[in-house]
Amino acid sequence: MAESVSEVRAWVNQRRGEGRTIGLVPTMGFLHDGHLSLVKRAKAAGHAVVMSIFVNPLQFGPGEDYDRYPRDIARDRKLAERTGVDLLFTPSVEEMYPRALQVTLRVGDLANRLCGLSRPGHFDGVATVVAKLFHIVEPDEAFFGEKDYQQLRIIQTMVEDLNLPVKVIGCPTVREADGLAMSSRNRYLSPEERRRAAVLSRALFDAARRCREGTTRAAELVQSVTQQLSSAGLEVEYVSAVREEDLGQVDQIDQPCRLLAAVRVGETRLIDNVALEAG
Ligand code: PAJ
Repeated sequence: MAESVSEVRAWVNQRRGEGRTIGLVPTMGFLHDGHLSLVKRAKAAGHAVVMSIFVNPLQFGPGEDYDRYPRDIARDRKLAERTGVDLLFTPSVEEMYPRALQVTLRVGDLANRLCGLSRPGHFDGVATVVAKLFHIVEPDEAFFGEKDYQQLRIIQTMVEDLNLPVKVIGCPTVREADGLAMSSRNRYLSPEERRRAAVLSRALFDAARRCREGTTRAAELVQSVTQQLSSAGLEVEYVSAVREEDLGQVDQIDQPCRLLAAVRVGETRLIDNVALEAG
């Protein structure tokens, strides 16, 4: 376990000296099988695997859940070890941000839509901390979940735009038995909310199936999902069909597309998405 940037750099240098490649899995902890699937993917690629656990204050807005974000480092440590993480990096806020940053990253239009509309500044905070982690660890490959699809596309675009020497690997969403995408925030749900939350993935998968079966008009798919969510008492923030390339809205599903949704179940905000392919 390393808490300082210098320890991480020394450890990485040593692994490189032994001829190893480095895989990075950035997280905010409270680990679940979704996080661990990224580690397994990095292990399978043969990397020495660094996982970071850092609840990044820069990506939380005022009134969001930074203070109550679930944390359990002892449990995370066991799970990470058991799954084969080679180095766990758990910096303090002071280690990552010894003073207010003068220089940060700003994400363009990719952040001015979907989750970015209700979370201004969120993706700037994500891009900034991930760029810092990339510079600290200098991984060959970094592993991110499709669960946070907009985040994944923003990180991939950042790497291209800034010529960062790292390959970003997107990994499939890991789900509970009833389809709910695993998330550290699921623990906020009451048992009754937890039951209703399953409608989110069910509605998205239903739309993906209808698309394969010939419904390629985006508005029709969006409307059907919105209606299913509302009927289940989920408060819809957005449902949107977008191009995978630039997350721009589409009218017809005639290229690689994604259907994304964000809802509130009580106080808890949940997001999910599925690929759309015309049959
Ligand atoms: P966090 O929410 O902890 O997620 C860490 C990584 O795990 C992200 O790449 C996320 O997409 C992935 N992940 C979460 N749930 C998943 C699931 N059910 N299946 C597959 N992958 C899943 O995302 C963040 O942290 C932060 O924004 C971070 C990138 C660490 C920057 O602070």
